[in-house]
Amino acid sequence: MSGQSLHTMGQQHGRRSWAEPWKIKMVEPLKMTTREERVSALEEAGYNTFLLRSDDVYIDLLTDSGTSAMSDRQWAGMMLGDEAYAGSRNFYRLEAAVQRFYGYRHILPTHQGRGAEHLISQTLITTGDHVPGNMYFTTTRLHQELAGATFHDVIIDEAHDPLSQHPFKGDVDLVKVQQLIDEVGAERIPYLSLAGTVNMAGGQPVSMANVRELRALCDANGIRLMLDATRMVENALFIQEREEGYAHTPIAEILLEFCSYTDGAWMSAKKDNLVNIGGWLAVNDRELFDELRNLVVVYEGLHTYGGLAGRDMEALAIGIEESVSDEHVRSRVGQVRYLGELLQEWDVPIVEPIGGHAIFLDARRFYPHLEQDLFPAQTLAAALYLDSGIRSMERGIASAGRNAQTGDHNRPKLELTRLTVPRRVYTQAHMDVVAESVKACFDARAEARGLEMVYEPRYLRFFQARFSPL
Ligand code: F0G
Repeated sequence: MSGQSLHTMGQQHGRRSWAEPWKIKMVEPLKMTTREERVSALEEAGYNTFLLRSDDVYIDLLTDSGTSAMSDRQWAGMMLGDEAYAGSRNFYRLEAAVQRFYGYRHILPTHQGRGAEHLISQTLITTGDHVPGNMYFTTTRLHQELAGATFHDVIIDEAHDPLSQHPFKGDVDLVKVQQLIDEVGAERIPYLSLAGTVNMAGGQPVSMANVRELRALCDANGIRLMLDATRMVENALFIQEREEGYAHTPIAEILLEFCSYTDGAWMSAKKDNLVNIGGWLAVNDRELFDELRNLVVVYEGLHTYGGLAGRDMEALAIGIEESVSDEHVRSRVGQVRYLGELLQEWDVPIVEPIGGHAIFLDARRFYPHLEQDLFPAQTLAAALYLDSGIRSMERGIASAGRNAQTGDHNRPKLELTRLTVPRRVYTQAHMDVVAESVKACFDARAEARGLEMVYEPRYLRFFQARFSPL
């Protein structure tokens, strides 16, 4: 399976593809469905791909979260679980792995990313505070709001333009941060929330230059700089490929340097770190750590397991080490690029440049005849499932929720359907099948009529909302 760019491949004399740095030892059969079965499954699911049974799904691109394949070494590690309530040896292995590869001093395990988001938000935020961030992420922003903060998007404008070719569309606009400081005062900003890569912008990276400048700005104003490290390994690959001076620097070194400009990080280990469940929270400040360590026992579990089994922490420690290998990251992002370049060749509208973990179909350009209030991205996710049993995820107006003050829909500029690629799970042939199904939906785009939301939960509505076709 080539992760090689289609474009560079043609330019070379002898063709020299490269392939995944692993081979397959165990397989999981996939179920194929008929169109009639999919019609009834989708109706039962209220046209929401989150509500489908995975047994009714053929290729599952809902998310790259917890869906990766573990290595034989990780599975072997599962047998080394020390299931002691306190002081499990696997915790110390996890602590050492985070310290070595991310560079932070104090580490707490959590059941997954949002467990860590909850702890850091409750600990650092006071009601009435303001948190700037490089575009929102659903659970991250909600925890900040539940802790009493108002979130402010300070990402560069290019991030909201699906066609801007800016190489680091995850960068923070320092002018926007300065304006917020001038407006509300630095003392009302407990931390800047920086994500690398930026999920909702299309998996777009933050540059090393930007995080360095942010460090200086935060220092000048006494503001903490906290990192969402969920896909930071993928971010490091983009720095290696695009930023001057890093072409020969290993991913692991880039990761360590980037993290060194931040005061701490929360992590959904279900992504980069190659495990099916888990997360962690890491900070350098001892006093802050003591508070977090106290809170973790209330919500997650004792500070040496934080909601995880010993075996989970062992698999995670091994996954961290595997995740920073250059060959691994290149083939992971290479597979996403392979899918994206096929779609580009067929003029299917996607977010550019191609990001790290997913291809984001641009539903606005896909269905130009559908108003945003008709949920074009959700409509596209439903159409794709009906065509082939491929499951994708809405990342548009349904995901954006409602404005906490006015109660109206948030209407994000980006109205996207995400084809999220799990790590080490699918082959290049699967990517071909996905691209062909997207193309079939694109050819039939004029028939799409949109959806109406008929049930809306209060929090994170996209997970459980129900729709009906118009
Ligand atoms: N931060 C980012 C950037 C994420 O993408 C996610 C999860 C989280 C935090 C929360 O972590 O799920 O372990 O509690 N993203 C998943 C997704 C759900 O599909 O993009 P979690």
